[in-house]
Amino acid sequence: MTKKFNVAVVGASGMVGGELLGLLETRRFPVGEFYPFNSGRRPAKVSFRGKKYACAKPSLAALKKSDLAFFVSTDEVAEKFAPRLAAAGTWCIDDSSRFRLTPGVPLVIPEVNAGELKVSKKLIAGPNCTLTGAAVALAEIHRRFGITELRMATYQAVSGAGKAAMCRLEEEAKAHFKGVPLKPGPGQFPRPIAFNLFPQVGGFDEAGNSGEENKVEAELKKIWNDGKIRISCTAVRVPVLRGHSLAVWFTTKKNCTEAALRKELLCTPGLKFFAKPGNYPTPLEHAQRTDIVYAGRLRRAHTAGNEFQLWIVSDNLYKGAALNSVQIAEAIAGL
Ligand SMILES: NC(=O)c1ccc[n+]([C@@H]2O[C@H](COP(=O)([O-])OP(=O)(O)OC[C@H]3O[C@@H](n4cnc5c(N)ncnc54)[C@H](OP(=O)(O)O)[C@@H]3O)[C@@H](O)[C@H]2O)c1
Repeated sequence: MTKKFNVAVVGASGMVGGELLGLLETRRFPVGEFYPFNSGRRPAKVSFRGKKYACAKPSLAALKKSDLAFFVSTDEVAEKFAPRLAAAGTWCIDDSSRFRLTPGVPLVIPEVNAGELKVSKKLIAGPNCTLTGAAVALAEIHRRFGITELRMATYQAVSGAGKAAMCRLEEEAKAHFKGVPLKPGPGQFPRPIAFNLFPQVGGFDEAGNSGEENKVEAELKKIWNDGKIRISCTAVRVPVLRGHSLAVWFTTKKNCTEAALRKELLCTPGLKFFAKPGNYPTPLEHAQRTDIVYAGRLRRAHTAGNEFQLWIVSDNLYKGAALNSVQIAEAIAGL
C-alpha cells in the first residue's frame, strides 16, 4: 500500500495555496490527514477532496502533527516554523524566498536537480517563479554546451505578487474604464499596473538592481550549480493576470548550431519547444494551469560569438510555485 502523508498547508487560503490544494487532489498525492493554516487575521475555509476545512493560525505543536508541510505564506512564517519543524522530522517544502540561498538547504526543480533531494535534508526550498522557466528550458543546453552568459528581460504577471495584487489589477482596470485616474501605491505595486508596466519587481539595491533581478541571478547559479555563469536581468511587471514570460539571450562556451540547440530543446524534460518558425507560446494561451514550460523563437543573436535568443513562457502559479512543490513532494514520497 502507498504510504500516506499527513499534510499541512501554511497559506492554504492564498493564491499558491489554492492551486496547491487542487494539485494534491488531481495528482492523487497520498494525503492522510489534512491541516490547512492561514494568518488567522480573518476566518477562511478551503475545500479539499469534497470537504470544507476551516483554516487555523499555525503553531509548532499543530504543525508537528504533519509528516509533510507546504509553506506558501511569507518569509517570516517560514523562518518561524520550518527549521524547527524539519528538525523534528517533518518534511518542509518552502515556496518563500527565506531559505533558497541558505547553504545546506536544497533549492529544487525536480526536472533539473532532483538529485539534491536527500532523506537527511528535510527542509527544501522551491525557487522564485521567474527563473523557473529559464532554469527548465535551458538546462539541457547548459549541460551539453555550457552557457557562460545569460541575459534576460522578464514580463511578469500580477499573480506573482499574490491574491491582493491580482485584485488590484482588476480594480484598476474597472476604475480606468470609469474614467478614474490611476495613481501609484499604496499596496502591492509602486506604480499603476492597469494598461501600464514598470521595470520594478521588489526594492532596489545600491547598484540599482531590483530584489527580483538579484534572486534570478543567485538562485539560478545555485540550481545549475554554476557560480561562474554571468547573469543579468531586467524584471518588468506587466498587466497579465497569470503566466511569466522571458526574452533571453544566452551564450554557449562550445560552438553550436541552431539545429543542434533545436534538437536539445525538443528533448528537454518538462519543456515543449515550438520548433516551427513563427509559432510561439503566450501566457494567456499556454500558462493557465499548465504543467510544462513553453519556448519558441529560437534564433542566433546579431552579436559576435555563440549568442542565441529564446522566448520562454511558464505558469508562475503552477511550475513557478504549487506544481513544483507537489513534484518535490512526489519525489520525496519515492525516496
Ligand atoms: N504567486 C506566485 O506566483 C509565487 C510563485 C513562487 C513563490 N511564491 C511564494 O509563495 C508564497 C505565497 O504566495 P501567494 O502568491 O500565494 O501569496 P498570497 O496570495 O498573498 O497568500 C498568502 C497566504 O499566506 C497566508 N499568511 C500570511 N501571513 C500569515 C501568517 N502570519 N501565518 C500564516 N499564514 C499567513 C495568507 O493567509 P490570509 O489569507 O489569512 O492572509 C495566505 O493564505 C510567498 O512566499 C511567495 O513569495 C509565490
